[in-house]
Amino acid sequence: MKKPIIIGITGGTGSGKSTVAKAIYKSLPENSIAVIEQDAYYKDQRHLSFEERTKMNYDHPLAFDTELLLEHLNALLNGQPIEKPIYDFTNHIRKDETIKVEPRDIIMLEGIMILEDKRLRDLMDIKIFVDTDADVRVIRRIIRDMKERGRTLESIINQYLFTVKPAHQQFIEPTKKYADIIIPEGGYNKVAIDIVVTKVKSIIQEKQNI
Ligand code: ADP
Ligand code: C5P
Ligand code: MG
Repeated sequence: MKKPIIIGITGGTGSGKSTVAKAIYKSLPENSIAVIEQDAYYKDQRHLSFEERTKMNYDHPLAFDTELLLEHLNALLNGQPIEKPIYDFTNHIRKDETIKVEPRDIIMLEGIMILEDKRLRDLMDIKIFVDTDADVRVIRRIIRDMKERGRTLESIINQYLFTVKPAHQQFIEPTKKYADIIIPEGGYNKVAIDIVVTKVKSIIQEKQNI
């Protein structure tokens, strides 16, 4: 197998990264792509109490187990499968189970701080920034976190004002300059997603012809 290519998808919380990644994944042949969420690599904090875990800052580069993420990306690049962690957002811990991910031609890495770390950045062949206004992002996050991540409105607002927003300005927004492509609005931007899918299909085709 020829070395896989890595596509990075970043953007602020609620920008639509995960939705864009899913849309690209669904448009490609099943065995051609592996999706790696940076979220899955939040550090395991099970040694702390639930109360302590709710107070942690999850919007800082040090909140992620980037060493493990790098190890896994390098394994996939070298044709080896990995055991991807599963993160439980409701309880703020890594689950005991993992998901086996086989190496594929395309590896799609998506997450808020993937362009912040030079080691990760240097592994990527295509870098995408999903750019959505902060007011829209926070509305999406309130709806999603109440529905899917077991949060109260009050906790989402407090977290947003004290950590999420300042971290966005400090660590995420400045990484837009590294992007090759900027996708406005995210999830349902069909034209942008189709353009990326066409490019990825041509890369897969090229790899199969070599
Ligand atoms: P991220 O991974 O960047 O935090 P998600 O992909 O989880 O963002 O999107 C956040 C929420 O917004 C989800 O509930 C998703 O269904 C919704 N969403 C994503 N893109 C759009 C869009 N273009 N229009 C409306 N809602 C969207
Ligand atoms: O999908 P999204 O980009 O929104 O995921 C990243 C967000 O998840 C971060 O902004 C962080 O605040 C949030 N998070 C959380 N609780 C955790 C881990 C991450 O609210 N335990
Ligand atoms: Mg996401």
